[in-house]
Amino acid sequence: MRKNCLVDFHTHILPKMDDGARDVQTSVEMLKALYDQGVTHCVLTPHYMNDSESVEHFIDRRERSYEILKEACKGQIVPEIALGAEVHLNKEMSNDDLKPLCMGNSNIIMLEFPSSKFQYWMIDEIEHIAFEQNIDIMFAHVDRLLDYFTPSQLEQVFGFEDFIYQLNNISLRSMKKRLAFYHYYSKDMPIVLGSDSHDIKHRAPDFSKSMRRIKWFPYGNRIKRSVEATSEILLKEIFG
Ligand SMILES: [Fe+2]
Repeated sequence: MRKNCLVDFHTHILPKMDDGARDVQTSVEMLKALYDQGVTHCVLTPHYMNDSESVEHFIDRRERSYEILKEACKGQIVPEIALGAEVHLNKEMSNDDLKPLCMGNSNIIMLEFPSSKFQYWMIDEIEHIAFEQNIDIMFAHVDRLLDYFTPSQLEQVFGFEDFIYQLNNISLRSMKKRLAFYHYYSKDMPIVLGSDSHDIKHRAPDFSKSMRRIKWFPYGNRIKRSVEATSEILLKEIFG
């Protein structure tokens, strides 16, 4: 990884795909804002929900949106981009082939827990995806789970060896969140960051201070090194 490489693993930048960028001009503005904040690589992760759309339909829609974005980015200075999805965890979703939803050239899928109470079918689905479909799991914005999962449920979520844990940058601003996350952090846990940006105003790209804020964790330098090392490995898999 070249020096100062910074990756945004979670964005809603593709135009008209979900509740993110409303038009392609917004998409380009978001990408330019990320570049200005030092982001060199960006994964585009629109929401995917298997109870409202087939994987094939989503991929087709995503491809059309991406073509429009690529055209609009010509001549602009923006981060390198790869396609992915923020995949909402649903019952029986592991019956579908989920590999097309993986990030770029990798075998990594980003899974989002429902914003409901923890239920045990969720763990069953995750294990099916990970161990039967042989897909590497990245949990989206795990900082949110700290608000509504119990300690024992969080132990399960953070107890998967080799799973990747994505934090939203906004959580780094909160001392309460940093301390809560640190409680479940273990040495060598793969951690990455994401802006989860949806627009250019209310949920705008916010990478400018993220790496500095990581140092505000207890043992922040160790977590910063984990983010850098994980990003370096995943960059090769996703963009390679
Ligand atoms: Fe998101």
